[in-house]
Amino acid sequence: MALLDIISIPDRILRQKSAPIERIDADLERLMDQMLETMYAAPGIGLAAVQVGVPRRLVTIDVVAKESTEESGETIKDPMFLINPEILWRSDELGIYEEGCLSIPEYYAEVERPSRIRFAYTDRAGLRQEREADGLLATCVQHEVDHLDGKLFIDHISKLKRDMVIKKFAKAAKAGTKPNL
Ligand code: NI
Repeated sequence: MALLDIISIPDRILRQKSAPIERIDADLERLMDQMLETMYAAPGIGLAAVQVGVPRRLVTIDVVAKESTEESGETIKDPMFLINPEILWRSDELGIYEEGCLSIPEYYAEVERPSRIRFAYTDRAGLRQEREADGLLATCVQHEVDHLDGKLFIDHISKLKRDMVIKKFAKAAKAGTKPNL
């Protein structure tokens, strides 16, 4: 299966609000498969459709595969497909994770977010699901839902740091090189 190209900042599409998905058809199934493979190959733990140039409300997540590979060399896959995900509740308690993003490659920063959430989504079979998450999954779902609203994790860090990162990527894109982070 052909992998999809992942778009990096400062591409404006990443700032676009993604549109709801109305039906699960063969094209969407194909997109879900391609996104999952692209995410695994990167490797990453979450990918939003807008990051591969499709501004629609679809996310793939697997918080198990990368960790299991790093820890034991054996990959245990636990893919999730979130169609039209929504965060229903966020805890007052906050947690900090060092986040990265496939659209801001090789840049990492600590981000504070609610440590627990309840969220709803339509699964691949078309069923509406509701579940709670904490830890890495809670962070990942919030990060990916932000993408669907045109937000990036660097929007949660200081303006000074954010402007610096954007400037470095913009300069590198112009020069056709890698950003000097
Ligand atoms: Ni991201």
